[in-house]
Amino acid sequence: MTLAVTPLSPVFGARIDGVDLGHLDDATFDQLYAAWLKHHVLVLRDQTISDPQFEAFSAHLGTLDPPPNQGAGRKSPPGFPNLYVISNKKDPAGEPVGALGDGEASWHTDMSYLQDPPAASMLISRILPAWGGDTYFCSMPAALASLPAALRARIASLSIKHDGTYDSGGNIRKGMQANDDPSTSAGTLHPAIIAHPESGVKSLYLGRRRNAYVAGLPLQDSEALLDGLWSYAALPENTYCHKWRIGDVVLWDNRTTMHRRDAFDPASERTMHRSQIKAKGALNRTLMTS
Ligand SMILES: [Fe+2]
Repeated sequence: MTLAVTPLSPVFGARIDGVDLGHLDDATFDQLYAAWLKHHVLVLRDQTISDPQFEAFSAHLGTLDPPPNQGAGRKSPPGFPNLYVISNKKDPAGEPVGALGDGEASWHTDMSYLQDPPAASMLISRILPAWGGDTYFCSMPAALASLPAALRARIASLSIKHDGTYDSGGNIRKGMQANDDPSTSAGTLHPAIIAHPESGVKSLYLGRRRNAYVAGLPLQDSEALLDGLWSYAALPENTYCHKWRIGDVVLWDNRTTMHRRDAFDPASERTMHRSQIKAKGALNRTLMTS
């Protein structure tokens, strides 16, 4: 296969043409993987692949990470426990068949409340709504580069607590208690600046804003510092908006990007299947001092 790489923006992201993810040889995969490390977000359109093919391609990137159990069972397509359904559809009993509903999802990195957050996530669009539901990505190496030097220096040795209480839709995660005090809520500390375990590229690492907390600071100072950092997190020139078509596969690096989603028409169905790849190397062993 001849792999064509077209940048999506001057900063990050690339569209890949000439690739059928259902029939991928090793040499083409190696090119695809290198493009992913370089561009952080890859878009592949018109992929008519089945769930087994989507799962097989995903497993090429690393160890599959099964979806979280959200209390009503895992939201997986029948027969594919490693895949996750992102959908607002409900079954005849009124139970959602997938996660996240039809609301907006705010900027976040997937599952950064874990000690070793996933390396990669990818979505394939199966059913699209009448309107809305665009997915936005932002570049966190670009966010880091945009910080004033004094602010970058200030956070070089700081860690941020990534809250485990709420998901990106604002729902309380299974087994957690509501807690809106960032200084006491459950979560995991990560360096404010991380280096990519494979490429070494440095990123600002924020996870999500809600209940975030800069370790060791009075809450008021932590809030002010985080507000300052977040003001650089998704500058328009460092973001890409993906408008979905059926059969789009979007693969992102969870260490160098954040993403968010617009709300969409609640009267129509939007269904995506997602896979996730486990961490490759611990983020808190890659703390950099610059
Ligand atoms: Fe997400």
